[in-house]
Amino acid sequence: MSAENQQSELPRFKGTLYPALTSEELLNSLDSFQAREDDVFLVSYPKSGTHWVAEVIENIASTRLALMSPLERGDVSKFEELKTCSKRRVIPTHLSYEILPATIKQKQCKMIYVVRNPKDTAVSLFHYYRDNPDLPDIDTWAAFFELFLRGDVVYGSWFDHVLGWEERRNDKNILILYYEDLKKDFSKSLKRITAFLGMHLSDSEVQRITWKTSFSEMKNNAAKEILDPNHTICALTSDRKLVFRKGVVGDWINYFTAKQKKIFDELFAERMKYSEVARHLKEYS
Ligand code: A3P
Repeated sequence: MSAENQQSELPRFKGTLYPALTSEELLNSLDSFQAREDDVFLVSYPKSGTHWVAEVIENIASTRLALMSPLERGDVSKFEELKTCSKRRVIPTHLSYEILPATIKQKQCKMIYVVRNPKDTAVSLFHYYRDNPDLPDIDTWAAFFELFLRGDVVYGSWFDHVLGWEERRNDKNILILYYEDLKKDFSKSLKRITAFLGMHLSDSEVQRITWKTSFSEMKNNAAKEILDPNHTICALTSDRKLVFRKGVVGDWINYFTAKQKKIFDELFAERMKYSEVARHLKEYS
């Protein structure tokens, strides 16, 4: 089947493509989801470092928090399943702010939004498209670049996603975290996460978490894991081994041609003209 035909097989909701592991039925019922006041949502555009931050949160407080599978993964029975959790729930999602279930907004649940510079995000998502049997096949980087530019990929345009969440940046219940900051000064980002969750760590716990959530440790552990589709935080695949590719900042330089960089930079300048997030990301593009 051609890539285009495979794309057309994916669920579409309000004009946006979603991965095969979600369902139109669930997406249409998002507003029936009941949030709890102490829920924490881990939100991101795909390939922005979701697994990394999830691992950090699990290591901070796994006895008190329970990491769930993504809100939009599965069918509507998912919402019933989520009700059975007796601990404080940490729920990952790649949903845009716009379509986020209403109760999450009403109850002002805590939300951590992870952002990564879009060029590295695009390259990472390109590899996911290539390696992941649950996403359409894509032959070349050039073909994927066009789809990414148009926002014709799962979860839609990076620009729409980030701008939608950025609008909420001053809400006290929302923390914006940058992949690049985690790479540059992990302990500083860790402090932001713990302060946001109202927790405190000793120096030895900080050391342990830094090691446990390092790229090499996470990649090695994923390689040893037995595939369990019921235990995943990814809405795009059940195979955790596919997640840990390079884990670096700036890999885009090995993919973008000079022309692609120019086209992308022009679009970025236009779409992100008034964006604070863009100012933060500037040095990485
Ligand atoms: P690359 O494909 O560039 O390597 P997500 O979890 O949102 O799907 O994001 C996946 C990206 O985060 C992948 O990027 C992956 O390698 C990177 N990543 C995952 N864990 C990481 C870690 N501990 N340190 C650095 N990068 C990590």
